[in-house]
Amino acid sequence: VIQGSGTAEAPTIDLKARNPMTLDLAIRGGTVVTAADTMRCDVGIRDGRIVALGEDVGPAARSIDAAGLLVLPGGIDSHVHLDQFQGEGIVMADGFRSGTVSAAAGGNTTVIPFALQRRGESLRAAVEAYHAKAQGEALVDYAFHLIITDPTPGVLGQELPALVKDGYSSFKVFMTYDDMVLSDRELLDVFAVAKAENALVMVHAEGFDSIRFMADGLEAEGKTAPAFHAAARPETVEREATHRAIALAELVGIPIMVVHVSGRDAIEQIEWARRRGLTVHAETCPQYLVLTAGDLDRPGTEGAKFVCSPPPRDAASQAAVWRALAGGAFQTFSSDHCPFRYDDPAGKTGPAARASFRAVPNGIPGVAARLPILFSEGVVKGRITLQDFVALTATNHARMYGLYPRKGSIAIGADADIALWDPERRVTLTQDLMHHGSDYTPYEGLEVTGWPVTTLVRGRVVFDGGRATAEAGHGIFLPRGASGGL
Ligand code: URP
Ligand code: ZN
Ligand code: ZN
Ligand code: ZN
Repeated sequence: VIQGSGTAEAPTIDLKARNPMTLDLAIRGGTVVTAADTMRCDVGIRDGRIVALGEDVGPAARSIDAAGLLVLPGGIDSHVHLDQFQGEGIVMADGFRSGTVSAAAGGNTTVIPFALQRRGESLRAAVEAYHAKAQGEALVDYAFHLIITDPTPGVLGQELPALVKDGYSSFKVFMTYDDMVLSDRELLDVFAVAKAENALVMVHAEGFDSIRFMADGLEAEGKTAPAFHAAARPETVEREATHRAIALAELVGIPIMVVHVSGRDAIEQIEWARRRGLTVHAETCPQYLVLTAGDLDRPGTEGAKFVCSPPPRDAASQAAVWRALAGGAFQTFSSDHCPFRYDDPAGKTGPAARASFRAVPNGIPGVAARLPILFSEGVVKGRITLQDFVALTATNHARMYGLYPRKGSIAIGADADIALWDPERRVTLTQDLMHHGSDYTPYEGLEVTGWPVTTLVRGRVVFDGGRATAEAGHGIFLPRGASGGL
């Protein structure tokens, strides 16, 4: 499997057969980075786990020379959408196979997509159907969050508590979108179950009625181009919903995770809540660092390539997100990978989408670009430290979502989930490098320094030399425990 790899050496003698305690694999000569430390040491791997860290870990059946490379915990992307229902006639561009190849190409070893309950559907049935989609397809490991769109008494009373106990310990709720929005009362009812079951709620905080009001007004004036997607959802709409979510969570007495925070207004609400002593976690994404609303205003339908919610903002909000990242206000940095095809009626430019921004499927691909963007724009430009980078891309995701200490660090006993990272490689992001199902990347042409050269999941090289090197199905499902918080 390591054949053709630029970094692996072929095994010479079968040391493992001679002594079962021999390492399966040693990663030698690299610089190991964790959320706490940077150290020059080798990593010894046996049976898929890290069993030795040392200046010399001794004989191994095979070795990878990591001289000049950083040895990072594999990225955990706790916010991706794969093969998720987005409306009749709309096709998400990645299922578990291509989505996890793309994840591995970007140095990720675990993803957490969402099992979506459609209204009228049993939550348990939604989870089972989602497992069927993932079975045998994934290259990297995966867990599921739940999306609750129909909190019936049966869902709240029986299904949700049972599912949390089965390892689905986080769920997302939406404060907007026709098919998904929950009323304040429904949010409170879901929050109460989260409290009783010790689960973590992720909130999509944008105000439904405010967006409808704005979008109706824009459409009435004939303003239907993709750029008006951003105009219909200004920061005020996100700020109001963030404030409301925080207040509802305070009423029930639970921590929440505010996902895909886009800019200054929502950050202010989160910081205000923390000053009041409330536990409010927050996530941001690459689109809020390197894209702006101006990208939605590109000629013709090009702007549709950048339509996501909340939309990218302006330079001042980018600066606010960087300040918050560097200051520790965000626990996680995720991609919100939500891939559609551009030049495709089932994607961004179908007939309805051409007629109005309202029908453009919301979401952009980014699971392969997340780590290079944060490393280059953050670490290389001196805005965050290497330790911040590891915390924001791996360790904190494992802690927040109940995967720690099995995942998220380089430590004895942890799964050998590792990204070998060339900190000096200069790369121009292009569609070819993303290995995803979308026919474009919103980050086309962005120049980055730092690149994942080899990705290992439980000790197996799954992506190397620009291609997948393990079989679909190597990735396994991870039941999760309770959030460890931060
Ligand atoms: O536009 C986005 N972000 N689509 C994905 C779904 C979501 O709200 O995260
Ligand atoms: Zn969302
Ligand atoms: Zn999302
Ligand atoms: Zn395998």
